[in-house]
Amino acid sequence: MNASHTVLVTGGAGYIGSHTCCSLLNSGYNVVIIDNFSNSSPTVIDAIETITGKRPALVKGDLRDAAAVRSCFDQHPIDAVIHFAALKAVGESTAKPIEYYEHNILCTTTLIKEARSRGMKRLVYSSSATVYGMANTAPFREDMPTSASNPYGWTKVMTEQMLTDLTASDPSWSITLLRYFNPIGAHPSGLIGDDPNGVPANLMPYVNKVAAGILPELPVLGDDYPTPDGTCIRDYIHVMDLADGHLAALDYVYSHKGVEPVNLGTGVGYSVFDVVHAYERASGKTIPYRVADRRPNNADVPIAYADPSKAERLFNWKTSRGLDDMCRDSWTFAKTRLIR
Ligand code: NAD
Ligand code: WQD
Repeated sequence: MNASHTVLVTGGAGYIGSHTCCSLLNSGYNVVIIDNFSNSSPTVIDAIETITGKRPALVKGDLRDAAAVRSCFDQHPIDAVIHFAALKAVGESTAKPIEYYEHNILCTTTLIKEARSRGMKRLVYSSSATVYGMANTAPFREDMPTSASNPYGWTKVMTEQMLTDLTASDPSWSITLLRYFNPIGAHPSGLIGDDPNGVPANLMPYVNKVAAGILPELPVLGDDYPTPDGTCIRDYIHVMDLADGHLAALDYVYSHKGVEPVNLGTGVGYSVFDVVHAYERASGKTIPYRVADRRPNNADVPIAYADPSKAERLFNWKTSRGLDDMCRDSWTFAKTRLIR
């Protein structure tokens, strides 16, 4: 049945997009990627082909460019879109708010206008647990109020609102707003993974670079939080589970109308030290660390994890991989791609 479906994946060469493309291709979907490679490499397309034995169609282009988006729809019989493409660096968004708002909103409006003109109204959108802001108490449920503490987060809150308003104006849209918690891990082949440019801002890419000998030690950003070991607690989710969550969401939009925010998380929280120790077990490496100041503006919520029950109820989906799997596969990626 999937062989008759063609899915446009915006940002399909990126970290989460590339894993999702592998799952889609392995499940028989036809995949079309649009990516400008601003935060990824064309070699990812080769890796996807190596992993799956199938090469996704590629439009190298910018989602803000209406002509590039039109050409995707002209060339392929697209019947659903998974929309990953966005700028996602929280610190950069604070330094360049206007660029972030413009980029992330324009990507979505350009895409929606073209899709709507074709009567194509199925969308799986990459939102984030960041929309739970600083005021809610974990476990986070989809009916809690949303807010943000940085411009990146506001682009997610605003886009969720925009897509909710769109569906109110035209109930024939089918949209899921997927609120990812903390994706880590990699495809077990080690051929694709999370490899940001420069010094990583996020925990697992940083740990990977320390394990690979590229950075000397991990700064632990605060050990005085109200948690058992003093470090922040997060809901880490294996990117392969996350990829499968997109397939489940896609099934849902093929068979339901309306807009639904849905958490993609495990429901289990781990501290920074839990992650470091699990990684040390998985890799056999010692991860040197030093306790450093909290993030500027006290930007970290101490405890964040999902109530994942809505995804299970709506999508019949839940995670199957644990923290040890996440660390093992992150380390495989580090060995395969980071150590030269
Ligand atoms: P990523 O940067 O690895 O992937 C994004 C991809 O989109 C990249 O390949 C980039 O080149 C491409 N892209 C960016 N702007 C584009 C444009 N204008 N036109 C065409 N392509 C463009 O990011 P990711 O970690 O895979 O995240 C994917 C989505 O998930 C993003 O929307 C992000 O905000 C969201 N998200 C990520 C996380 C996380 O921790 N990684 C958590 C929650 C939500
Ligand atoms: C996890 C924990 C840090 C780096 C971010 C975005 C969020 C979402 C996911 C997109 C925190 C600590 C980190 C380091 C550390 N992205 N840490 N040393 O902050 O939960 O979420 O990514 O939507 O919007 O804010 O994830 O991986 O950055 O941090 O001690 O060098 O690790 O303080 O407690 P976070 P993270």
